[in-house]
Amino acid sequence: MGVLEISLERLLSDLYELAKIGETQGQGRTRLALSDEDHRARRLLISKMVDAGLEVRVDKVGNIIGRRRGVEDNLPVVAFGSHIDTVPNAGMFDGCLGVLAGLEVIRTLNQNNIPTRHPLELISFSNEEGVRYPLMTGSRVAAGSLQLDEAYRQTDSSGITYLEALKSGHPNVENLAEPLRRHGEIKAWVELHIEQGPVLDSEKISIGIVEAIAGISQWLLEINGRSGHAGTTPMTFRRDPVIGASKIALEINRLAREKGSGVFGTVGIIRTYPSAINVIANRAEMSIDLRDISPQRLNESRREILSYIEDTLSGLGLTYSIRERARLEPTPMSKTVMDSIMEAVSRTGVSYRMIPSGAVHDTQNMARITDVGMVFVPSRDGISHAPDEWTEPTDIKAGADVLLHTILELAS
Ligand code: GLV
Ligand code: MN
Ligand code: MN
Repeated sequence: MGVLEISLERLLSDLYELAKIGETQGQGRTRLALSDEDHRARRLLISKMVDAGLEVRVDKVGNIIGRRRGVEDNLPVVAFGSHIDTVPNAGMFDGCLGVLAGLEVIRTLNQNNIPTRHPLELISFSNEEGVRYPLMTGSRVAAGSLQLDEAYRQTDSSGITYLEALKSGHPNVENLAEPLRRHGEIKAWVELHIEQGPVLDSEKISIGIVEAIAGISQWLLEINGRSGHAGTTPMTFRRDPVIGASKIALEINRLAREKGSGVFGTVGIIRTYPSAINVIANRAEMSIDLRDISPQRLNESRREILSYIEDTLSGLGLTYSIRERARLEPTPMSKTVMDSIMEAVSRTGVSYRMIPSGAVHDTQNMARITDVGMVFVPSRDGISHAPDEWTEPTDIKAGADVLLHTILELAS
């Protein structure tokens, strides 16, 4: 008998179906966490999970969990999945591939009447992306690093709380399952994901076995100055927050470049107020996203940036407030899970290499409570968080087959 394989046709059809939800012509799709579009996608996923014979529950933070019984059903579960919320104008694979490939793994096992000794759980975590609410609410609450009531109180930019957004799709939140997972309850967690960087694509390799995931520190900074007339306020008199924000953005770029590979610094948001062509702004808001695979260097960069902000803004006569919106430490993957992925790779005969992850993932939170691993497949030209994110069907198949055999290895 040949090596067990997933159905690429079925998986692609699911991916395209999900990709339609929240789609805007030529601009990808937008399904911010717990928005109407996300709730539509969540309902579709739940119905597909039920059709695949899973016992589905939604927990109080909004994670969707589908269980397939094990032969020894009281053993710890082997869990896998990802997320289906998106950034604005997203591609069709970030997160969705891991969830739908997980669903395809379940169907393949069902169709071939293959039981597993351990029970399996397919999990779609709520709010991975962290655009609308601070990142990874679902996995942080599941892993115990964020309290449920704190998650509920978080607000989006229009003041809608996480709880209200959750209730718009699940009115009876009180009746949902408990999200916190105990140590020992989950044997291992595996996440299949697109690389979102250029390495696998440029080397024409199908599978990346992730060794470690970068740490992240995200801040929101508000800078206050003084408004004035653009034509009359002497240049030396100005207290212009746009100048402060610009210097900080340039410094973050310089620092990340200078520290070398593995360090990333991004300013994705700069807003000025009142935002008029002939008025010196009195306020600027900006975001900072800093990532590094090395914990020491990440800490060092944080300190350097904070002191640059203090020195620069006070030198310009500006005041400010800064708050860290999200923080995750760099996370090594577990040897046991990496070994299982390696075994799956050799069974399926696909090309592979070891790789770090620059993007952050729910896997980082799961690492607090269980053994974890990640499988990457190539992203064409390394593009992600953009409408033209693309992964070749042959690589999708390779990734899903490796996921299947990793699960079989871990759950037998
Ligand atoms: C999540 O997608 C991130 O790495 O920002
Ligand atoms: Mn993702
Ligand atoms: Mn993403």
